[in-house]
Amino acid sequence: MTAAASTTAGPRTVGEIMSHPPVTATADETVAAAADRMHAQRVGSVVVVDGSRPVGILTERDLVRIVADDTGSASVAHWMTPDPDSVAPDVEVTQAFARLAEHGYRHIPVVEEECLIGVVSMRDLMRLAQIQPADKLAHDVPRGLEGVVVAETTIGDVRGLEGFYHYRQYNAIDLAETRSIEDVWYLLFEGQLPDRAQRSAFDAEIRPLREIPADVKAALPEIVRAAPDAAPLDLLRTTVSLLGASLGFQPSLDVGASELRRQALRVCAAVPSLLCALSRLQRGQSIIDPNPDLPHSANYLYMMLGEIPTPEHARGVEQYMIATIDHGFNASTFTARVITSTGADLAAAVIGGIGALSGPLHGGAPSRALDTIDAIGTVERADAYLRDVVERGDRLMGFGHRVYKTDDPRNVMLRSVAERLQAPKLDVAKYVEQRAVEILAELKPDRKLYANVEFYAGVVMDACGVPREMFTPTFASSRVIGWTVHILEQAADNRLIRPSAQYVGPPPPQPVPPPA
Ligand SMILES: CC(C)(COP(=O)(O)OP(=O)(O)OC[C@H]1O[C@@H](n2cnc3c(N)ncnc32)[C@H](O)[C@@H]1OP(=O)(O)O)[C@@H](O)C(=O)NCCC(=O)NCCS
Repeated sequence: MTAAASTTAGPRTVGEIMSHPPVTATADETVAAAADRMHAQRVGSVVVVDGSRPVGILTERDLVRIVADDTGSASVAHWMTPDPDSVAPDVEVTQAFARLAEHGYRHIPVVEEECLIGVVSMRDLMRLAQIQPADKLAHDVPRGLEGVVVAETTIGDVRGLEGFYHYRQYNAIDLAETRSIEDVWYLLFEGQLPDRAQRSAFDAEIRPLREIPADVKAALPEIVRAAPDAAPLDLLRTTVSLLGASLGFQPSLDVGASELRRQALRVCAAVPSLLCALSRLQRGQSIIDPNPDLPHSANYLYMMLGEIPTPEHARGVEQYMIATIDHGFNASTFTARVITSTGADLAAAVIGGIGALSGPLHGGAPSRALDTIDAIGTVERADAYLRDVVERGDRLMGFGHRVYKTDDPRNVMLRSVAERLQAPKLDVAKYVEQRAVEILAELKPDRKLYANVEFYAGVVMDACGVPREMFTPTFASSRVIGWTVHILEQAADNRLIRPSAQYVGPPPPQPVPPPA
């Protein structure tokens, strides 16, 4: 069996790249016989035919299901996908790919006048479609890259329709309900939860790394003086830059995996200290050094507020932090990976992540969500306020999500944390959440908009004493763990991320006019 040779110089068609003759089976054969033929011919599928007409397809994925079911003697008809989609041989590769990509098929029968003449694999279509000029492809890429898979990862994933996300192999919410942030941090870095000895070794490794290097610490008052009203997250960008330079970070391209891991841990441990120091200086208070006797989240509140927090408050913030460490290929994580893909140093990638997170459509929403709850004030005012926002075309902060089309599991967990803490704004928040979801369903009926993680984030942090300007910085202080794990993964198997755009301006080349 051969791949058809290219015969024309123009855009390639399915007929030119398909494999032919196709390997076939009949519906009444056993799957064992069909599997034998797939193995012998080294193909990933057989097209099931009635005469020369395709009536089904059996793929290696079906074989896996069959083996799991231990029914190798069953007939092909029982396991095949009936009436498979097919493609004509004269269709251009790019068009075929665009039309079939969203279905998740791997092999497509090529059919001419109802007769099977070949098979084409989605992998071949994809490979060839991607070397076409960008203008042939751009219309196929959804705006905002929604749903586009850009990498493989072993770190975690989000399943939007199920309302589920995970870190490594564990449900992230289960981790947030039962584990410390140090355990989850270890899981993300090492790929497994720590045992007792690993936990104490990791604690011993990270606690000293919370200290801000002396030269960076000395520069902080000057940085705050230069921009006294700046958001703490904006000052964090500046200080992470300084931290990386002062610690001598080199381009990730030139740094080995263990050095990059060391840098990652250093930045993750130092970011909370930097944020608390900056925020205190902005409030005219003195910096509080990290307390090596406190676990991560309690120490964070201690450095921020100057008092050892209650276990309830420390746990509330810890659960929020665990739940926000990672979340698929969100905008800031993607940004950090893009920067790492250039070989730039780890600090540059983290600074990019901070910049992306600061936007109100990503991490900048929790203080705005709490502002909304405050502006509403009492339940009687909720309806009019919420309707007005949506009707004038604005967004309700803390609602909607690119991936979740059902309840955001982080929001559900944080609502229960807010209940446990008896958060002062809880009653109004619950009413606002319920009415906002109903009003959004009424005014945006096709959109499936629910409260997201940011909605109760502010309520929980407010209940734990975190000042409003530190809401998004607290998000950054946990998400930095996620960013750096992604940076390590990207650097370990790197290829420059460099997509294309479709040019839609005036047609070039036009003569360059002489200067006026
Ligand atoms: C998170 C968010 C950016 C996702 O955006 P997205 O997937 O690109 O969704 P879109 O921007 O395509 O919006 C789809 C539709 O839903 C509407 N919509 C989405 N979120 C909305 C919200 N919070 N309030 C009102 N309408 C909203 C949009 O106006 C749009 O409606 P239209 O098609 O009639 O114009 C968006 O839901 C949002 O802006 N939410 C508010 C900010 C926020 O809470 N961010 C934190 C995210 S964790």
